This record gives sequence, structure tokens and C-alpha cells, in this order.
Amino acid sequence: MRLNDVRLLACLLLPLAACADTREPPAFVAAADSRQLMVSVIEPAAEAYWDAVGVIMDEEGTHEIEPRTPEEWAAVENAAWVLAESGNLLLLEDRAQGRGHWIAMSRSMIEVGRRAVDAAASKDPQAVFDMGAEVYFVCTGCHAVYATETLRPNALPAGDPRTPDPRRP
Ligand code: HEC
Repeated sequence: MRLNDVRLLACLLLPLAACADTREPPAFVAAADSRQLMVSVIEPAAEAYWDAVGVIMDEEGTHEIEPRTPEEWAAVENAAWVLAESGNLLLLEDRAQGRGHWIAMSRSMIEVGRRAVDAAASKDPQAVFDMGAEVYFVCTGCHAVYATETLRPNALPAGDPRTPDPRRP
């Protein structure tokens, strides 16, 4: 017996109680619009992940950046969990609207996010660096279709005067 049949039956047997409204409220309600989700949830987590490992070169030489304490490694792993679960937030019907590429990119975010968690859990700076690149490809993979003005997810907004001029050496 399907759910609707059960409801109909309940409606017949308990006319006052069960008939008022047979429509289900939506299971999930998006609190943020897509832009806010990017700015407040996804971008900060991605930045935390990208900034965790790298190399800075200055006049004093080359400095390797990598997490050094258990707390720092935990913060990298937490950022990766946020990215992985954000893929599910992107799949909410309000946001996905049945769009095929959107759904594929959201699922990729879950998959890549989980592998980013594994890289952080293994405390392997090179693995975190490599997964950072894969995360970036998922961001740009979706933006290339649905947010062409934000092709590079860590870029300044279009027209921002601080944007470096690519023609300048
Ligand atoms: C499934 C699609 C999708 C994925 C995956 C995605 N984005 Fe976005 N992103 C969008 C869309 C759509 C917008 C434009 C939102 C708007 O302005 O309405 C956007 C906009 C942005 C913006 C600009 C917000 C602004 O100030 O206007 C940033 C920053 C951003 N995304 C970061 C990221 C990062 C970082 C990742 C990867 C970790 C990512 N996005 C992955 C769809 C996606």
C-alpha cells in the first residue's frame, strides 16, 4: 500500500483528524541562497583547506607551511568535512532544480571532499596539497557552467581594482 493510499484510508476512517492537508511539507528548507552558501560555508572551508599546506618564498628563503599540531590537522580535516557535506546542501531541490551538470558537480564535491578528509586524516601534507587541486577543479567545474563570473573561486569579484593586471609582469 502506497503512502497516499494509507493517507486516503486514514482520511476515510478518521474524517476530522486526517483530511485537512495531505501535502507533505518539504523535507529540507534551504536557509541560504546559493551565493550565501558559497560565501559563508563553502568558500571559508575551501580557503582553510587550501591555506593549510604550501610554500612561501621571501627574502629570508623558502618556508614550508603545513599543519604542525593535532589541533591544526583537525582543523584541516574539519574543513574537508564541511566541503564533503556541502555537496549534499548543493543537492537540495531548490538549488539543484534537476540540472544534470549541477547534480554531477555536487556529487563530485561529496566524493572529493571525502578524499580530502582522508588526506587530512593521514597527516600527509603532499596529499592535502594534491586534494586541494582536486577541490579547486570541482569548484571551477560548476562555476564554468552556472557562475561564469566566478570562474576562479578564490578570485576577487570581477572589476575589483585589486585584481592583478595579467599583462603586467
Ligand atoms: C554545484 C555548483 C557549484 C559548486 C560545486 C561550487 N559552486 Fe561556487 N558558485 C556556484 C554558483 C551558482 C555561484 C553564483 C551564485 C550567485 O551569485 O547567485 C557561485 C559563486 C561562488 C562564489 C562567489 C560568491 C559572490 O561573492 O558572488 C564563490 C567565492 C564561490 N562560489 C566559491 C566556491 C568554492 C570555493 C567552491 C568549491 C570548493 C565552489 N564555489 C563550488 C555554484 C557552485
